Amino acid sequence: MRVGVPKEIKSEEYRVGLVPASVRELVAAGHEVLVETSAGTGIGASDDEYRRAGAQIAASAEEVFSSADLIVKVKEPQASEWSRLREGQILFTYLHLAPDPAQARGLIGSGATSIAYETVVDASGALPLLAPMSEVAGRLSIEAAGQSLRRHAGGRGLLLGGVPGVKPARVVVLGGGVVGTQAARMAVGLGAEVTIIDKSIPRLRQLDDLFGGRVRTRVSTIEAVEQEIAEADVVIGAVLVPGASAPRLVTREMLKLMKQGAVVVDVAIDQGGCFETSRPTTHADPSFIVDGIVHYCVANMPGAVPLTSSYALNNATLPYVLELADSGLAALARNPGLRAGLNVHRGRVYNSAVAESLGLPFDDVDTLVA
Ligand SMILES: NC(=O)c1ccc[n+]([C@@H]2O[C@H](COP(=O)([O-])OP(=O)(O)OC[C@H]3O[C@@H](n4cnc5c(N)ncnc54)[C@H](O)[C@@H]3O)[C@@H](O)[C@H]2O)c1
Repeated sequence: MRVGVPKEIKSEEYRVGLVPASVRELVAAGHEVLVETSAGTGIGASDDEYRRAGAQIAASAEEVFSSADLIVKVKEPQASEWSRLREGQILFTYLHLAPDPAQARGLIGSGATSIAYETVVDASGALPLLAPMSEVAGRLSIEAAGQSLRRHAGGRGLLLGGVPGVKPARVVVLGGGVVGTQAARMAVGLGAEVTIIDKSIPRLRQLDDLFGGRVRTRVSTIEAVEQEIAEADVVIGAVLVPGASAPRLVTREMLKLMKQGAVVVDVAIDQGGCFETSRPTTHADPSFIVDGIVHYCVANMPGAVPLTSSYALNNATLPYVLELADSGLAALARNPGLRAGLNVHRGRVYNSAVAESLGLPFDDVDTLVA
């Protein structure tokens, strides 16, 4: 199959759909890979590096879209890309269609088969193509917290790990899933005192085991949240209720309990955030202050580290890309987890949550592959 990798055109997006190592795997499996010139610039991968991996370099996005059978990207296609997609072509990328009716119309109109990374599931029902970006964001959240705690950034002027003879910062992590675990790991590694709050007792048991007593765990109640944020220097927002807006665990009123110059990093901002006072920010202007509390609320945190993020994403997507390249749409029949990724095919919507959010009719994917 011919696999195409266009350069990402969404603003401030520097990741790339396939890194050179993934190109090499596809070429070794007998596929052709066509990469748009300078698609890898954001991760420091030159056209020559892609050529050495076995790719052909295309002079334009038009060339990639017009000749590839499978398009592999990172971000949802932009308006100029919808019109380039066509029936019989497979698009594999993050789509996040539910809040984006214009893109949904574009993909429906294209007739192409659009498979979304974020709705692919694994055997346990988890989301394997979302997890790598949560890992990146979780680890970054503590770096962001450390910088925001600095005096010139409006923070308390505190070093996360303290020094011998001076106590470390207290970090409270709301939500002990993928983001929360990676945040806790980084914070513990730097020597901070860490508490994880989650509503799931089985999850808290796992975390207690995982950290061998180096973190405190608490069940999520209003009282626990109030008590912990009052003592915290840093609060990481990492709760997720799949398919729903993030629960607002910290109201504006509760923010008054916190120390002046304390920091909140609301990683869950992409789902609306778990602090009432959060609003999405960008890497160019990442934080703002409300009632003396520094808020860091960047909605696409992994975008700051496109090199790590592209490789982390490719590690997870490559097996699926190989399956699609080997078998085309037949891969959907064989792999129910990949099938769950199908959002739009030949003008019809195949994901019930997406259809419901957009008020569109929904076709059962099992009828397609039957
Ligand atoms: N800002 C970014 O750049 C960025 C990047 C990646 C992920 N995220 C977001 O981070 C959030 C967390 O993602 P994840 O992959 O860690 O999710 P996850 O499903 O792995 O973990 C979520 C955790 O929240 C817990 N939870 C749910 N309701 C709770 C409540 N009321 N109180 C306490 N805990 C509660 C769950 O039990 C679960 O352990 C998501 O909103 C995700 O979209 C943001």
